[in-house]
Formats: sequence, C-alpha cells, structure tokens
Amino acid sequence: MQPTAPSSPAEFAAYYDLRYRVLRAPWGQPLGSERADDDDLPTTVHAMLTAPDGTAIGVARLHPSAPVQAQVRYMAVDPAKQGQGIGRHLLEYLEAAARQQGLTECILHAREAAVPFYAKLGYEIVAPSHTLFGSIPHFLMRKLL
Ligand SMILES: CC(C)(COP(=O)(O)OP(=O)(O)OC[C@H]1O[C@@H](n2cnc3c(N)ncnc32)[C@H](O)[C@@H]1OP(=O)(O)O)[C@@H](O)C(=O)NCCC(=O)NCCS
Repeated sequence: MQPTAPSSPAEFAAYYDLRYRVLRAPWGQPLGSERADDDDLPTTVHAMLTAPDGTAIGVARLHPSAPVQAQVRYMAVDPAKQGQGIGRHLLEYLEAAARQQGLTECILHAREAAVPFYAKLGYEIVAPSHTLFGSIPHFLMRKLL
C-alpha cells in the first residue's frame, strides 16, 4: 500500500470528492467547503491511496506551518475501508515528506473520534482546540519527527 501524490485532473477530482464525502457532506456542508486556499501551493503535499479502479480510498495533506513544523490536515479514509491501515500509510508517507523538507515536528488538530488513531501513531495531545460545525471537538496534537 503505497500512497501517491494526485497529479491528473481526474486524480484531484477523486481526491477532493473523498475529502468532501468523509469530512463535509455528513454535516451538510456545501460543495467547495472541502477546499482550502493553500491546497494549490507548491509546498502543500497531497497524498492519496486508490483502489485498483482508481477510486480514492484515503486522502490527506501536509503543509509547512512554521520554520521547522509541518501540519497535517484533511485526513479522510472511506468509511468502508477504515481500520485496514490506510490512515497509517498516509500519515507515515506525509511524515516522511516532512522529514525530507527538514521539518522536525508535526502538529494537527484531531477530531475527538480520531484522537486514538493519532495517539497510536505517536502523537500527544497538547491542548483542546476548536469545535467544528458546532459539534466536533478538536484537540491539538504534536509529534516529534
Ligand atoms: C481517523 C482515520 C483517518 C484513521 O484511518 P484508518 O485507516 O481507519 O486507521 P488505520 O487502520 O490506519 O489505523 C492505524 C492504527 O490506529 C488504530 N485506530 C484507528 N482508529 C482508531 C480508533 N478510533 N480508536 C482506537 N484505535 C484506532 C488502529 O487500530 C490501528 O492500530 P494497529 O496498527 O495497532 O492495528 C479514519 O478512521 C477516518 O477517516 N475517520 C473519519 C474522518 C476523520 O475523523 N478524519 C480525521 C480528521 S482529524
């Protein structure tokens, strides 16, 4: 299971579609709300795992957020494929990319339900952070790379 960076328009369409379906649609958020202004910056690293038919089954991204710091955002695995190691492969791929850029720590704002996943991958809670859509508590987590 080797993540790749989406590159073609079709791959990016599949990438954003999965991000929307997992992270936005269940809360009634409008199409387009899954995109961020810095998605298209050359310093943003996108990672995707696909099924043999090209369907996206896991997506995530990373960007440099401070001089030695990376931040992971928008991690989403197809609900039918969760618990099979896809999230782990995506996160390890992004962490390797961060190390290659000379970044020495990685932070993220984890949804409460995802905290045990990140903890398993070596992240520690720093502090509670925001509440998304008025109902999803988040926690700032950090890992030294
Ligand atoms: C959170 C998420 C990305 C994890 O991806 P995943 O592919 O399901 O996780 P993995 O199968 O790679 O799990 C890696 C390890 O974490 C553990 N883990 C994953 N989710 C867990 C949970 N909720 N509670 C406890 N352990 C968990 C797995 O058991 C596994 O441990 P193992 O390697 O010892 O078997 C995925 O469940 C998801 O997309 N959730 C919905 C969207 C979301 O919350 N995204 C995060 C936004 S911050």
